Amino acid sequence: MAINSRLIPADYTPIPSQGVTVRVEATPELVSPLDAVGFAVGTDGVVPAALGVDSAALARAGFTGAPGQTLVVPRPAGPVFVAFGVGSGAEQNPTSLRDAAASFARATERFARIGIDLGDAFSLEPALVGQLVTEGVLLARYRFTELQPSARFVRLEALDVVAAPDRLDAVAQGVHIGEVTSRATALARDLANNPPGHLTATRMGLVAEEVAPRHGLTVETFDKEQLIALGCGGLLGVNAGSAEEPRMIKVTYSPASPTAHVGLVGKGIMYDAGGISLKPSDAMHLLMKMDMAGAAAILGAMTALDELGCTAKVTAWLMCTDNMPSGTAMGLGDVLTIRGGRTVEIKNTDAEGRLVMADALVLATEDNVDAIVDVATLTGSALQTLGTRVAAVFGNNQQLVDQAVAASVTSDEPLWQLPLEHRYRPQLNSAVADISNMGGPFNVAITAALFLNEFVGDTPWAHLDIAGTMQTEKDDVWRSAGATGFATRLLIDLLLHYTPVQA
Ligand code: BES
Ligand code: MN
Ligand code: ZN
Repeated sequence: MAINSRLIPADYTPIPSQGVTVRVEATPELVSPLDAVGFAVGTDGVVPAALGVDSAALARAGFTGAPGQTLVVPRPAGPVFVAFGVGSGAEQNPTSLRDAAASFARATERFARIGIDLGDAFSLEPALVGQLVTEGVLLARYRFTELQPSARFVRLEALDVVAAPDRLDAVAQGVHIGEVTSRATALARDLANNPPGHLTATRMGLVAEEVAPRHGLTVETFDKEQLIALGCGGLLGVNAGSAEEPRMIKVTYSPASPTAHVGLVGKGIMYDAGGISLKPSDAMHLLMKMDMAGAAAILGAMTALDELGCTAKVTAWLMCTDNMPSGTAMGLGDVLTIRGGRTVEIKNTDAEGRLVMADALVLATEDNVDAIVDVATLTGSALQTLGTRVAAVFGNNQQLVDQAVAASVTSDEPLWQLPLEHRYRPQLNSAVADISNMGGPFNVAITAALFLNEFVGDTPWAHLDIAGTMQTEKDDVWRSAGATGFATRLLIDLLLHYTPVQA
């Protein structure tokens, strides 16, 4: 790690490289020169005249307007026209529209300047349509090319959205939301895609400090010495084997007269080698640069709150370190003291996420937040149980879990609730400390959640285990290959719509 870090220019900061200009226009004659224009076509609507073909001609070519379908309509000159299916009005939902726009974006991947004519094919609110098509296109066209100067990807430069004059304002408002949520997701993806030698805990702190002032946030970073003073023995214990310093990054969004105070806790393991309980050198090991995807999603989401007018105060604790084996690393049988004084017996150094998060959960309760949401690539068990498309949610407060699930439906970052099954709590008993950091061989996602539960007290709390959904091997509608930024938009939606829950 230390060796690679020296290769990094001092001014290197992995922040979104996407910078697309999005315009909203009323004229079907698009103002700027475009390479391709997409026309939304439903299964039950009229085909836009500008496309130059009728529904019979489209049907002969096999295009019915089903969601996800795309068809290039050849033209002698001018921008390429593409029909993209959005289904019938009745079957449209946020996910189907975002996916339809993403399919169009992938069909026109070789073009830098593209437009979408929304036409009359949509049944959802114009503002929501604006947001969804913007998210679909910008998220699908995301590429992490920072370290691949020879990349053969064409960068998206412009997206024009054309809407009827009477819907223009509403569409423009939604497009703006989509730009903000996509930019937030791009930041989360950039951070998670960065290799561990490039994005150390220290640099993560610098990135947070750099982006914060631009988005109405304040940042406080705590170095090793300050963490010792705070008694953050979980974060310090995991960091003990590393040549890199740990960082606790506290990010605050504080609107005037806030309606609530939500605490966020992010697992920020910059690289998870497993520590002394070293991971085997299989392909999964390669993904462990993304073991900070929870912290990345939280930092990304926080950059959207000011622009989108969140009325709740939000304080985030990002717990950053790598988990390395070395002569100074903690060993099995070691006992750590978490912030607040509780002791943990280390039975497996690869169960490190819960240790760094325990300190932060205690700090959040000390700050008297109304609710805590944590996001963590916590267990392989979440991946094995729910796969790469659905994340696990646990919690001690059903109202809060329900709000998280509702947000996950809108954002298409689906959550499935698993039980905080107290019958399994004895698996975490320790003969020498207050608790052990590892349960039995089964139900690992559940015992991990039970461990976290020990540190939240009575504070309403929801825990998102995103180990399965943090990345995708291949392009998949709006998810571009690599880090997905999963939970970024979910958190934004949850925080914008947060309603106080009963403790
Ligand atoms: N970071 C891993 C979990 C993980 C696995 C994330 C696969 C993404 C993909 C975590 O720190 C870990 O190692 N968990 C162990 C816990 C066990 C040792 C109790 C696991 O899930 O196997
Ligand atoms: Mn681990
Ligand atoms: Zn981990």
